[in-house]
Amino acid sequence: MSNGHEDFPTDRPAVVTCGLPYANGDLHIGHLRTYVGGDIYARALETLGQETAFVCGSDMHGTPIAVQAEREGVDPESFALNWHEQYRETFPEFGVEFDNYGHTHDETNTELTLEFVERLEAEGYVYEKEIKVAWDPREDQPLPDRYVEGTCPYCGEQARGDECDEGCGRHLEPGEIEDPVSTLTGNPAEYRDRTHEFFRVSELSDYLSEFLDRLEGTSNARNQPREWIESGLQDWCISRDLDWGIDYPGEDDLVLYVWVDAPVEYVASTRQYSERVGADEYDWESVWKDDGEIVHVIGRDIIQHHTIFWPAMLHVADYEEPRAITASGFMTLNGMGFSTSRNRAVWAREYLEEGFHEDLLRYYLATNGGFQQDVDFSWGRFRERVNSELVGALGNFVYRSLLFAERNYDGTPDAEVSDDVRHRIESAIDDFAAAINDYSVRRAGNAAVDLSRFGNEYIQRHEPWKLADESPEEAAQVIRDCVQIAKAVAVLFEPVAPDSAERLWDQLGESGSVHEATVGDALEVPPETFGEPEELFEKIDDERVEELNERLEERTAEAEAAAETESDADAGDEVPEGEDVESEADSGAGPDLEPLADERIDFETFQSMDLRVGEILDAEPVEGADELLRLEVDIGAETRQIVAGLRQLHDVDALPGTRVVVVANLERAELFGVESNGMVLAAGDEADLLTTHGDVPPGTKVR
Ligand code: 2FM
Ligand code: ZN
Repeated sequence: MSNGHEDFPTDRPAVVTCGLPYANGDLHIGHLRTYVGGDIYARALETLGQETAFVCGSDMHGTPIAVQAEREGVDPESFALNWHEQYRETFPEFGVEFDNYGHTHDETNTELTLEFVERLEAEGYVYEKEIKVAWDPREDQPLPDRYVEGTCPYCGEQARGDECDEGCGRHLEPGEIEDPVSTLTGNPAEYRDRTHEFFRVSELSDYLSEFLDRLEGTSNARNQPREWIESGLQDWCISRDLDWGIDYPGEDDLVLYVWVDAPVEYVASTRQYSERVGADEYDWESVWKDDGEIVHVIGRDIIQHHTIFWPAMLHVADYEEPRAITASGFMTLNGMGFSTSRNRAVWAREYLEEGFHEDLLRYYLATNGGFQQDVDFSWGRFRERVNSELVGALGNFVYRSLLFAERNYDGTPDAEVSDDVRHRIESAIDDFAAAINDYSVRRAGNAAVDLSRFGNEYIQRHEPWKLADESPEEAAQVIRDCVQIAKAVAVLFEPVAPDSAERLWDQLGESGSVHEATVGDALEVPPETFGEPEELFEKIDDERVEELNERLEERTAEAEAAAETESDADAGDEVPEGEDVESEADSGAGPDLEPLADERIDFETFQSMDLRVGEILDAEPVEGADELLRLEVDIGAETRQIVAGLRQLHDVDALPGTRVVVVANLERAELFGVESNGMVLAAGDEADLLTTHGDVPPGTKVR
């Protein structure tokens, strides 16, 4: 992708930001997806040699904080600061290392926000208007944003005051929501006239359309806003009747809408970083006002704020525009939405307390689906991917290679890397760079494991253990190649699994840190000597997964029973408890099914998949893998060996003779040392095999 931009790495400094988390509750692994994605992207840019700062902060203002603090009977400032401190500790525990993590209530952000507003006013982009705002007649107070709920005027779904969080995802202006109900008292809200401040976003449609033509990132962030612009942009109300927030300059009873000061924290946090390291090393002002490569990593529920409101503010205030916006899909847990109130979540803290290494989750989150696709988490799939890809492919390759090297040569054998292996490493680096330029965290995240698969296949093909006596030179050559591959694996693995990559770097006897390494180092000669390696990852056994699932089910059932008791007790009470089953926008996805994909593919893309009818000829367990079977599948022109996760879910002896549908042109993979040449299609948790209704012969194309 280029859209007129030079490919990374460029000579311009980059800043990668992540959508600010509201400082109002515990983090679960669904929340972590965006932060891990942003961290991987920022690290990967650095691995490419791009100067990069990675910044974020807590979102302290607005009704998401005010409502929750009020429910808990504490003042919003200490409430939000408390969560802010917790997030600051939690992110690094998942390897998410911001160069600066600030918050929107600090001085830097307040000062910069006011400068932005003054600039918008000075440029003539702000005006006052009397509007109708929702009002609670019993409490006699205004009901901004989350203090009111009702029906979205655009799609008819249940919505919050300022966002259609369960329907079309649009931002709603004050007064737009239909059938408003106060979340304070449960009473229908009235409308009262109030004077508010408006930003003339409608005048910026042409600029914003051009900006979208230049914008890089995921296609959801580039395409969705076009429809909003085409259907006509409204001006944006930037003030609120609220006590909590940054006071609107010159207006005693108004604060700025939280979405004004929140994105300014991207700039404020960069400024704090710059002030800490010195402008000679990283100059926030030139990045934001002159030549920065600005990349925003966000959840897809906040695309409108980042592609319309924020660039409009930056443009009028004469700041640089974002180069890219990448918006992640949602997360589900066992196919259902995360729910805070129903305790249906894997909490960030809980994950760590279970003793799992952060890199396992990082790898899963990054590679289990494309960044903009919805991703489901299950402990079963987590185990499968850890065992087959991290233990079976990457861990196994580097351990066996370094062990052989250390035992036989005390380290790196004295030989040149072969041309074949050099080319394979160069092509892995090219793929990694292409992934970053396509904003594909998934492809970048897969680079190291793919290279390890090649390494396993290489060592298996050359059998250095056999060559050691017959042809010691050839054996040394193979192991020399493998050590080089292991070094390249460490470099390419760093963004996704920084701690594990560092351990591998140490095992290779490298001095310094892999965090400082760039792709060029992948082909530098590894140290002559190193010690005995240790396994990088441990297998997760099936009993562990069963325990984790049972615990999750038990506590979800307990929370549901408690919620039912509470709602029975509340029946008839006119003050409803805040319903906090997370909306699709907050948590990931809807009811029982994974949400339908947003993106349409064209017919040609569909046709590029070579789907064939196959017949299973033979099925046998893969040694060491409790869930995998090695299948021999007749697909007409040839018989394919395919590895499939069917062992626990099917009667193995009954499989031969079953008709299946095979993806014949899927790239080869290696699972537990066994090559899989294609994929058998199956549906759902029980791996229900897709078959044919009649008896077309094997090899028939599926259309
Ligand atoms: O939707 C949210 O969770 C907001 N706190 C995101 C703010 S991102 C930014 F622009 F500040
Ligand atoms: Zn809607």
